[in-house]
Amino acid sequence: INPNNVEFMISAMDVSQYPGENKNEIALSGRSNVGKSSFINAVVGRKNIARTSSKPGKTVNLNFYNVDDQFLMVDVPGYGYAKQSKKDRQKWGELIESYLTEREELQVVVQLIDLRHKPTGDDVLMYDFLKHLDLPVIVICTKSDKIAKSKIDKHLKIVRETMEVEPEDIVIDFSSVDKKNLPKVHEALSKFV
Ligand code: GTP
Ligand code: MG
Repeated sequence: INPNNVEFMISAMDVSQYPGENKNEIALSGRSNVGKSSFINAVVGRKNIARTSSKPGKTVNLNFYNVDDQFLMVDVPGYGYAKQSKKDRQKWGELIESYLTEREELQVVVQLIDLRHKPTGDDVLMYDFLKHLDLPVIVICTKSDKIAKSKIDKHLKIVRETMEVEPEDIVIDFSSVDKKNLPKVHEALSKFV
């Protein structure tokens, strides 16, 4: 991936605004604040092309990025943000559901889980929904730099068991801060583009 050939395309609020590129798409999913935007930046080698925030709930639309004309990355708004209004939650649900169920270009979903904590009910629900749709999932456990090395395997096991990750889905511990396992992530993504 040439970092200089990565560009933000559009922030889409509904199907009519999706790009008509016909390129394979990789979508990001995960709780608000888990590190989705940071993950995109790390993967494409740019500091802040996907806007990150310490305040949750910042990404409200589907943000499409053209990655070196090879594939598109789609930053999806995070779930589990408590302060969201009922109306916003409903809008979120419709946006995500229509994208995940109808988008032909979608090849794989990267689901991000905070490695420090046991996956939440929302994490499990989302994974089950993706599997129900027969979508391949790459599980990325973020913020591994915040955990002692000796405890990483134990945390990975908790993620696998709580989510009941299917054997064909890979689970990778990752950090956007020290870029741990970035080559592994690139390899996993390359199977879908
Ligand atoms: P929303 O768009 O609100 O859903 O959040 P997001 O999932 O895009 O999270 P974002 O990338 O904005 O990161 C949220 C916060 O976590 C920021 O303060 C990041 O700097 C921090 N963060 C993200 N990834 C890592 C990581 O691997 N390690 C550490 N230590 N912090 C991280
Ligand atoms: Mg974000």
